[in-house]
Amino acid sequence: MKLIETKAQKLIDTAKAMVADKKGLLAMDESYPTCNKRFAKLGIPETAELRREYREMIVTTAGLNQSISGAILFDETIRQHLKDGRSFIKVLTDNQIIPGIKVDEGTVVMAGHPREKITEGLDNLRERLIEYAQMGLRFAKWRAVITIGDGIPTQASIEANAHALARYAVLCQEEGIVPIVEPEVLMDGDHTMERCFEVTEQVLHTVFNQLYAQGVILEGMILKPNMIVPGLTCKKQESDNEVADATIKCLLRTVPAAVPGIAFLSGGQSSESASARLNAMNVRFKSKLPWEVSFSFGRAIQQPALNIWHGKEANVLEAQKALYHRAACNLAARRGEYNDKMEKEY
Ligand code: 13P
Repeated sequence: MKLIETKAQKLIDTAKAMVADKKGLLAMDESYPTCNKRFAKLGIPETAELRREYREMIVTTAGLNQSISGAILFDETIRQHLKDGRSFIKVLTDNQIIPGIKVDEGTVVMAGHPREKITEGLDNLRERLIEYAQMGLRFAKWRAVITIGDGIPTQASIEANAHALARYAVLCQEEGIVPIVEPEVLMDGDHTMERCFEVTEQVLHTVFNQLYAQGVILEGMILKPNMIVPGLTCKKQESDNEVADATIKCLLRTVPAAVPGIAFLSGGQSSESASARLNAMNVRFKSKLPWEVSFSFGRAIQQPALNIWHGKEANVLEAQKALYHRAACNLAARRGEYNDKMEKEY
């Protein structure tokens, strides 16, 4: 009994630390295909060495820990080293940034549902998590993808993805690793904000039913949802305040108060929109919410820095300035203190 309690307490402490002090998470866990796609767009060679250099640029940004409490890494990165020989896990830990790891193995077309995706990676997950825990990784991430379209998502895809998320989460907690549970409803398409609300509400209900059924400790996890936004090509694009209100309304209906934190993905929003919408939530609902409302952005923090870096050593300092700036904007958004002047001053 004692041992179980100690384990649960460790999970709870880590989850709290991941959303403490109004800081947030940095997703730098792009898989090979995703990272290569972003490099290819800029003409950066798609090599292991350049991926390493890019990620060294990120983790050596001075002052990053002022805004970032944890960083999500990819398996390749945790086996690489900085030029000075230190591992990425050590550099982050030395800087009081909690290291985490993406453990899903990406999405494939779901059998019987050709327009929908299912996430793979449950096979051998227990063994992988044992190794990750020994290496010093304290939290993990699993991303499920839900697509909105004509006749989709189906109940089958929502249930299968929610089941996999819950299986992953309970396996993580068994090893003392905090699971980030990420059911992403994609922004692609011309659907309305109302449709995004309806689908996200259904997805989150199903996910929390599964998490409950499989005994996940809600106090020892973080939810990483999408914001409630209209599809990218929808004619009607709501204001930041409308997005903030719809998002909080949906989450209040679906996310138990026991969950310590909600850390949004950016999902293809512009960096500025992601900050402005997060800020609007924190301004309008300040101290009225049961959970911390935070960020776990990938593109919305990294993209401007990647554009500047461009694979060149000479651009490292400028790229780090851009990365620091985006992290600082999101720290301000967590406090409800972000405004577009911050973008102009930079
Ligand atoms: P984006 O913020 O770029 O959506 O990435 C977050 C993430 O970790 C996706 O799994």
